[in-house]
Amino acid sequence: MQRVVAFYCSFRRLSNSKALLESFLEGALGVDVYVFNLANLSVYACRGCERCFSLGKCVIDDDMKRLYPLLEDVDFIVASFPIYFYGPPSPAKAVIDRCQPFWFRSFVKGEVLKKKRGCLISVGAGSNDNMFVASYYIVKVWFNSLNASLDMHLKFGGLDGEGEALRRTGILEKVRDAGKRFFAYKA
Ligand SMILES: Cc1cc2nc3c(=O)[nH]c(=O)nc-3n(C[C@H](O)[C@H](O)[C@H](O)COP(=O)(O)O)c2cc1C
Repeated sequence: MQRVVAFYCSFRRLSNSKALLESFLEGALGVDVYVFNLANLSVYACRGCERCFSLGKCVIDDDMKRLYPLLEDVDFIVASFPIYFYGPPSPAKAVIDRCQPFWFRSFVKGEVLKKKRGCLISVGAGSNDNMFVASYYIVKVWFNSLNASLDMHLKFGGLDGEGEALRRTGILEKVRDAGKRFFAYKA
């Protein structure tokens, strides 16, 4: 069975990034789904110690050990992140930085990791297109290190208040349809 690892990142009870992700995942029919709220994990910052360059894995012992096997082996990765100062929130950035062992294996050792399809869902309060650019590139290079393509980027501006994505007409339907297309796609 195919597998998807899916992330959102929020400390709110009625999180917009969570609501969007859940609707998107309704399209994951017949796919094993693993969802993590990165705001609830304990993941330390990358120290840049470069021990992963000799060991091929990280020496820090924390919740990344739950994510590493999935990031290595799933078929799909979906990240639903709010925009914080034009980028991903810090718990999400910590997870991204801790993927340095994958970057090393892919781009220094030349290993070909399992190919994955990826989607980024971005949600923010503002309404200009520039606010999504930094997150797009950060997630694109993160996905690259995992041998995941960034096949879909869904952008939702004007969503700020807690639970607003649940109340705004048409948004969940739009993201649900996108999820169906994403998981139904055959190369
Ligand atoms: C620290 C912080 C920084 C933020 N920075 C931005 C920003 O640069 N641009 C923007 O449009 N929204 C920004 N927002 C608003 C959030 O992206 C928005 O409220 C989003 O819907 C939160 O998603 P959540 O409900 O999943 O937590 C920021 C919010 C916080 C708390």
